[in-house]
Amino acid sequence: MTPSVRAATVEDRDAIAAVHLTAFDDEGPAIVDVLRALRDSEAVRAELVAEVDRGGGPEIVGHVLLSRGWVDAERALVEVDVLGPLGVHPSAQGRGVGAALVAAALDSARARGVPAVFLEGDPAYYARRGFVAARELGFDRPSNRIPWAAFQVAPLAAHEPWMTGRLVYPEAHWRADTVGLRGEVLAEVRERLGD
Ligand SMILES: CC(C)(COP(=O)(O)OP(=O)(O)OC[C@H]1O[C@@H](n2cnc3c(N)ncnc32)[C@H](O)[C@@H]1OP(=O)(O)O)[C@@H](O)C(=O)NCCC(=O)NCCS
Repeated sequence: MTPSVRAATVEDRDAIAAVHLTAFDDEGPAIVDVLRALRDSEAVRAELVAEVDRGGGPEIVGHVLLSRGWVDAERALVEVDVLGPLGVHPSAQGRGVGAALVAAALDSARARGVPAVFLEGDPAYYARRGFVAARELGFDRPSNRIPWAAFQVAPLAAHEPWMTGRLVYPEAHWRADTVGLRGEVLAEVRERLGD
């Protein structure tokens, strides 16, 4: 099952929502909210879908969005990309669809001359896909509710050493309250990742 990745269109939105509602389970409605808030803002930089053909024609089984954030560096504010949400339909997970979407998202950022792509996620998944702990490169997290190990960055060719500082998320992520984790989920992830 080789996925093909292409730019998302407005017509894909229902299928994209269906992927996230299933992939994120209880968190699905919040993910659909942040997609709406991002699209209503000026922040979306790229939206990609992954399709597979399981015999009945191309089906959307994954989606990733890149939005514009900033690194508040001493010398200047630097525009960067924030990767998320990323979701793959459970029926297609574990077959490289997520990896293909992350690779295509990084290609999109490189092609736009973006110096770095940030995300919140499990380092066990993203370390093999170009991401490193952002703290080790001098970046500060946008919220204390993001465990340090989950705060990751893929520095790209346009990144220069002075481009460090606090990551500022686009407002849509705050409006939808999808920055970091809360409650038992935060406690469980802190316990698992060791911070
Ligand atoms: C996380 C997600 C996007 C991965 O997509 P996918 O298409 O299943 O991933 P891939 O097939 O490219 O990669 C699968 C590999 O990643 C591993 N993996 C999947 N999810 C993982 C996770 N949360 N943590 C660590 N490893 C993970 C699998 O074990 C597998 O390992 P292997 O290559 O050694 O066999 C998908 O499982 C998903 O949508 N999950 C629910 C929503 C979510 O958590 N999104 C990410 C938010 S940061």
